[in-house]
Amino acid sequence: MKYISASFYCIVLLLSTFAILQSSAKVHVHIQNRQGKNINLHCRSKDDDLGYHKIENGTEYSWSFNPNFWGTTLFYCAVLMDPDPVWYYFDAYDDRRDRYRCKAQCIWLIQIHHTLIGYNEKSGDWELFFFRSDRLL
Ligand SMILES: *[C@@H]1O[C@H](CO)[C@@H](O)[C@H](O)[C@H]1NC(C)=O
Repeated sequence: MKYISASFYCIVLLLSTFAILQSSAKVHVHIQNRQGKNINLHCRSKDDDLGYHKIENGTEYSWSFNPNFWGTTLFYCAVLMDPDPVWYYFDAYDDRRDRYRCKAQCIWLIQIHHTLIGYNEKSGDWELFFFRSDRLL
């Protein structure tokens, strides 16, 4: 009995060490404005509000974070593009979608005509995404 519980604890310890190492790798998100005009950006997760930022054309806003252990990390952003008076939303990092898609670098380009493209680190492709007109959470 003692032997079984000792190996059980060893396995649990190994698995949790592995899980912690896996989840502690930092993800860097970059949101580049290629829209031609300034944009306003507001990104947040359930726990962190990154605040409002004015991003000039040709520049980017970036931050990094450690995805949580549970695989539920979600950062979403609202974008205001002059002269449109509405905020457009997109998920800058959704662990379920991006765990392998952008493991280290999540690069987003906001281009003219509200075109949003994101880099898929795994496939090496730029992918087309669509803004939402509201925050569907
Ligand atoms: C916006 O920035 C991009 C990338 O640096 C540049 O190619 C483009 O010419 C700029 N557009 C305007 C209108 O300044």
